[in-house]
Amino acid sequence: MIQTVAKILEQTIESELTTVEITALLEKPKHQHLGDLAFPCYTLAKKFKQAPQQIAQAIGEKIKHPFIQDVQIVGGYINFFVNQSAVTQQVLTNIVCSKDNYAQVENNGQRIVIDFSSPNIAKPFSMGHLRSTVIGNALANIAQKNGYEVVRVNHLGDWGTQFGKLIVAYSLWGSKESIEKAPIQELLKLYVKFHDEAEQDEALNVKARAAFKALEDQDAEAITLWEWFKRVSLEEFKGIYDQLGIQFDSLEGEAFYNDKMQGVVEELNAKQLLTVSDGANVVELDDMPPCLITKQDGATLYATRDLAAAFYRQKQYSPEKIFYVVGNEQTLHFNQFIKVIDKMGYTWAKQLQHVPFGMMLKDGKKMSTRKGRVILLKDVLDEAVQTAKQNIQDKNPALQNMEEVAHQVGVGAVIFNDLKNYRLNDIEFSLEQMMNFEGETGPYVQYTYARISSILEKANFTPSNIDLMELEKQAWPAILCLQDYPKAVKEAFEQVDPSIVAKYVLQLARAFNKYYGNTKILVEDSARESRLLFCYCVATILQDGLKLLGLKSPSNM
Ligand code: ARG
Repeated sequence: MIQTVAKILEQTIESELTTVEITALLEKPKHQHLGDLAFPCYTLAKKFKQAPQQIAQAIGEKIKHPFIQDVQIVGGYINFFVNQSAVTQQVLTNIVCSKDNYAQVENNGQRIVIDFSSPNIAKPFSMGHLRSTVIGNALANIAQKNGYEVVRVNHLGDWGTQFGKLIVAYSLWGSKESIEKAPIQELLKLYVKFHDEAEQDEALNVKARAAFKALEDQDAEAITLWEWFKRVSLEEFKGIYDQLGIQFDSLEGEAFYNDKMQGVVEELNAKQLLTVSDGANVVELDDMPPCLITKQDGATLYATRDLAAAFYRQKQYSPEKIFYVVGNEQTLHFNQFIKVIDKMGYTWAKQLQHVPFGMMLKDGKKMSTRKGRVILLKDVLDEAVQTAKQNIQDKNPALQNMEEVAHQVGVGAVIFNDLKNYRLNDIEFSLEQMMNFEGETGPYVQYTYARISSILEKANFTPSNIDLMELEKQAWPAILCLQDYPKAVKEAFEQVDPSIVAKYVLQLARAFNKYYGNTKILVEDSARESRLLFCYCVATILQDGLKLLGLKSPSNM
């Protein structure tokens, strides 16, 4: 609509301003009685050295277009009242013709790497990792919808001194059977025990360092153990990814960069960026603490691996951007190593972007999957599915594929709860709230979709005749919303914020339900086809929006 009005204006004022300039000036009036769009004439007034009101009057008189029902001049503004049935016709036709491709931007030949999820081997998959997984996946879908090719990278935490500790702990106290049974739980126990014992016994730390050194030197026995820890941990993570319906293009974790760090260290050296501080090699930075590159014993660090990873990805994928979807407690780390790349003289440093997010809270406190009260993520998801099942059983006891739907609704509720708020906000984890079929929830949107699906099914509807549009006035807010979908998709990408899409689907569902509450859709009158077509379009966009966020849309629930 905004484009069409901008074009009409551009032609009327004979290209004094470009469509882009006009689009930027067009406003949405605060009140419906002021029209659908308003154009302030102050810029033009300056150009022509005339009063804005005079200009508005002159332009307003010239505007004649089938799309515009009425034009009113208020002060220096031209208020446009669009022809609702023409707009409706246009919007619905667009959706029917493009279906899932509505709002899909053509491939722009550019690539984006998204580094997300990235749990640590032998440690529980934390709430932070869940947030990273859910946000990263949605961003990946949104970037694709905006025309980018996306590389989904899981930068597994599979290297570091903790593996020395684990190897020692396992050789002292471990049992193969119990690890096979519950890998991460057992490995975590060993890790905790190691720390307890090492407080008394410094020799353990010495052993652990030696074990890690052996691992770094590719000692066969150490490597075999490490590979085993990694395999069993990944199997457990895979259960979570399957539940969430998430896949990666690359599982190249920290260990992958073992043979790629030397080059970076040498280059830093050659560029005279390394200084020695307490025996360690660091890069001094202006307005933040130095970035640690190698320890006294030559061991590399988390930052060294991220440096190597950035160079590798740059070479391998030539990306337009790399997003690192990682909690805001790692902000300093990202600022540091990105600054190091900048200091090395690489302009692509500014294409690396940390995408931070807030914490998951339960009853206002940080939800932790570690320490004493271990909450396993798998249990959290299972509980969500159970709750969904109870809710659905109450509403629809005869539902055929109950298990599958309960899964889609339970997991969907967790994902939506995460994505509906701006990512930097902390979010509260309340099963009861996120599962509410009437609230601002995933189930609410899914339920709206299912409701429409069953109407369409009852009518045995397939879209055909779209020439004739007779739709009730009450549909107008939802039509405007449908029209805005491409804008929401674009903004979500530009602001790197999936909550824009989540809020969008909520708004569309709400607008539809208002209409639905006032209208008998299936009544056999002349407008029935139009109503059904409208329903079909709302369902199409709800489904597409949910898919971007990573939710399924069951057609019955
Ligand atoms: N494994 C890390 C952690 O759990 C997150 C890794 C994030 N990605 C990265 N390239 N640093 O804290």
